[in-house]
Amino acid sequence: MVILRADAMDFVSRSAAQTRRLGMRLGAMLKPGDVVALEGDLGSGKTTFVQGIAAGWGSTDPVSSPTFVIVNVYRRGDGRVLYHMDAYRLSGAAEALDLDLDSMLEEAPLVIEWADRIAEVLPEEGLTVRFEWLDAYQRAMHFEPRGERARVLVRHLRQAILRGL
Ligand SMILES: Nc1ncnc2c1ncn2[C@@H]1O[C@H](COP(=O)(O)OP(=O)(O)O)[C@@H](O)[C@H]1O
Ligand SMILES: [Mg+2]
Repeated sequence: MVILRADAMDFVSRSAAQTRRLGMRLGAMLKPGDVVALEGDLGSGKTTFVQGIAAGWGSTDPVSSPTFVIVNVYRRGDGRVLYHMDAYRLSGAAEALDLDLDSMLEEAPLVIEWADRIAEVLPEEGLTVRFEWLDAYQRAMHFEPRGERARVLVRHLRQAILRGL
């Protein structure tokens, strides 16, 4: 783990299972209003990370890239929901605005794949995670928080990594 800035974090995941475990740590902390913006090429591990996030958050619903429906909704026992959006097929920020992210965020955390495609309409604060394919089993993950809440999330993730994933 290389710490580039005091609040940003780089991590190299050595397996899909490890990416899921890190996602679980993040998912367990998420609250309505939290935005997790995922960036990175096809196959870089975004959906795998979301599988962990949904599990850690407390849902047993199956996770897949919401490529055709734009937004997947994962439910858990207490009735709360987690939103999982894929911006890949959105024509642009205007279409993203129609989704009314603000209303979604009032009731749930929101995880977005290909978030860089709708950067203009995302809230200023949030956690960006950039994925990079290294080889068949390894992915670099760069965590970049914007705002104090996201910095707290990264601090906790860093502690989880130091304790061993
Ligand atoms: N360290 C790793 N982290 C995440 N995925 C990995 C890793 N190593 C191998 N993989 C594999 O890479 C693929 C990632 O696919 P996916 O998560 O759907 O990517 P994306 O959503 O970014 O297109 C999966 O088949 C997964 O099993
Ligand atoms: Mg995906």
